Amino acid sequence: MNNTKRLQDKCALITGAARGIGFAFAKAYVAEGAKVAIGDIDIDRATRAATEIGEAAIAVQMNVTSQESIDAAVAETVRRLGRIDVLINNAALFTAAPIVEIERADYERIFNVNVSGPLFTMQAVARHMIERGGGGKIINMASQAGRRGEPLVAVYCASKAAVISLTQSAGLNLIKHGINVNAIAPGVVDGEHWDGVDAFFAKYEGKKPGQKKREVGEAVPFGRMGVAEDLTGMAVFLASDEARYIVAQCYNVDGGQWMS
Ligand SMILES: NC(=O)c1ccc[n+]([C@@H]2O[C@H](COP(=O)([O-])OP(=O)(O)OC[C@H]3O[C@@H](n4cnc5c(N)ncnc54)[C@H](O)[C@@H]3O)[C@@H](O)[C@H]2O)c1
Repeated sequence: MNNTKRLQDKCALITGAARGIGFAFAKAYVAEGAKVAIGDIDIDRATRAATEIGEAAIAVQMNVTSQESIDAAVAETVRRLGRIDVLINNAALFTAAPIVEIERADYERIFNVNVSGPLFTMQAVARHMIERGGGGKIINMASQAGRRGEPLVAVYCASKAAVISLTQSAGLNLIKHGINVNAIAPGVVDGEHWDGVDAFFAKYEGKKPGQKKREVGEAVPFGRMGVAEDLTGMAVFLASDEARYIVAQCYNVDGGQWMS
């Protein structure tokens, strides 16, 4: 029997991994033999997350809207883990509003985290991977929201469509260096993120707290909302050597919500 773990001795930086899907990724990567840097703006929670995982995880202060912070987090990860083989651009924020109520400042806040964040973190990590040689894997967290607009979710949907497009361009540009760039598009995943989404729909659609969550869960062909652990298989696979021939793709992991 082959007992080799699929990410044995790989070093990964996961942004926004202090909680939710990113935290589940960090746990899954460590279970597969990797060392993981939990890069998050909430350093206290990132530290608690790393402590919970154990010595294969470290917490790194990181604000993906600041170039200085991105560069410092990449440098700290390389210094403490030795290198970066895998990057997951996972940190993101949600917002919702009817078109006529969208505020420019909110649009800029969301695009800074959800689009500039992954682009310039990809750039910093790709520079490191190219310099070091040997390639790498970059996984961007998109969303079903990036596949189709929604009446109240224009800004977030547009930011996730941009993530899919950046994944395509970066994937095509970086594969010559042996760097595979791909994306995952989750559907609806229960957790603190969706507690916030639910509150937006309570405000704009007059729903009771928890009602939107129930409705979206019932609408998933699989029969329920996702949980973070539903996504870890794809995240491990895309970081593994088995995914070497996969370039510039975005995979739906959403219980059958979307087909593309
Ligand atoms: N939960 C869902 O239903 C769902 C669906 C589709 C896509 N996604 C995507 O999956 C990813 C993870 O989602 P989640 O539900 O775990 O989100 P979450 O809100 O639970 O976690 C996001 C994390 O990002 C961190 N963060 C926020 N701003 C940051 C910044 N400027 N710099 C660094 N870190 C920052 C937060 O502190 C938090 O730990 C996101 O990209 C999200 O858009 C989620």
